[in-house]
Amino acid sequence: MTDLIIVGASGFGRELLATIESINEIEPTWNVLGFIDDDPDALDGYEIDYKVLGSITDWKPKGEELYALGIANPRTKEKIVPILKNRGARFATVIAPTATVERGTKLGEGVVAFGYTGISVNVRVGNFVFFNAMVGIGHDADIGDYCTFGPKACISGKSSIGKCVNVGALASTYPGVSVGDYATIGMNSAVIRRVKPNTTVIGVPAKKI
Ligand SMILES: CC(C)(COP(=O)(O)OP(=O)(O)OC[C@H]1O[C@@H](n2cnc3c(N)ncnc32)[C@H](O)[C@@H]1OP(=O)(O)O)[C@@H](O)C(=O)NCCC(=O)NCCS
Repeated sequence: MTDLIIVGASGFGRELLATIESINEIEPTWNVLGFIDDDPDALDGYEIDYKVLGSITDWKPKGEELYALGIANPRTKEKIVPILKNRGARFATVIAPTATVERGTKLGEGVVAFGYTGISVNVRVGNFVFFNAMVGIGHDADIGDYCTFGPKACISGKSSIGKCVNVGALASTYPGVSVGDYATIGMNSAVIRRVKPNTTVIGVPAKKI
């Protein structure tokens, strides 16, 4: 088993632990050492077998262990990952046993996919992309680095999603639509036209706010 430390001990970090445990139930893969988080009390009040080992700010990777990114906010991911990588951290890709990745699809470094996510054929997924539970990604879609998809988000075929895009739960895109870098798509929104970078859109059809 490979030693693994989860970066971030908030809700998403604890959900990531559950996914890692579901992988270990099928095949013992990861020896979880604990979490790192700038809040030493982040796990207080939760029934959990692991501790916060130290802060992300001061953490120095030892070398052999791998890291799993348990942070959902795209901009926070973009900030923290290069810092840890410069100190020597290497990141694991964590795919839930019930998630599917079809032929011709390429996953970047540090990708996390929770249960029942389905990534179709010939998709390009950038680095440190996070797919929450039951996300659907259509054929030939292109997903930029650090994107985060909420539960049941549905990205249609040939959609192009820029980097650091935050896609809310149950949001969907029309086939072939493009979404600019750092955009936010509100929960339950239907994106049928191009979304410019750095904008937030909501509603059905999704409009800028
Ligand atoms: C789009 C979003 C980012 C906007 O957040 P915000 O900037 O804090 O905006 P507010 O909550 O102040 O809402 C602004 C207005 O948009 C409306 N609105 C917000 N989100 C909306 C949505 N998804 N659909 C329709 N209307 C929405 C609000 O009702 C409010 O309208 P009002 O000004 O008439 O009262 C947020 O609402 C959202 O949907 N986040 C995604 C949450 C999610 O799915 N997370 C994943 C869970 S794991």
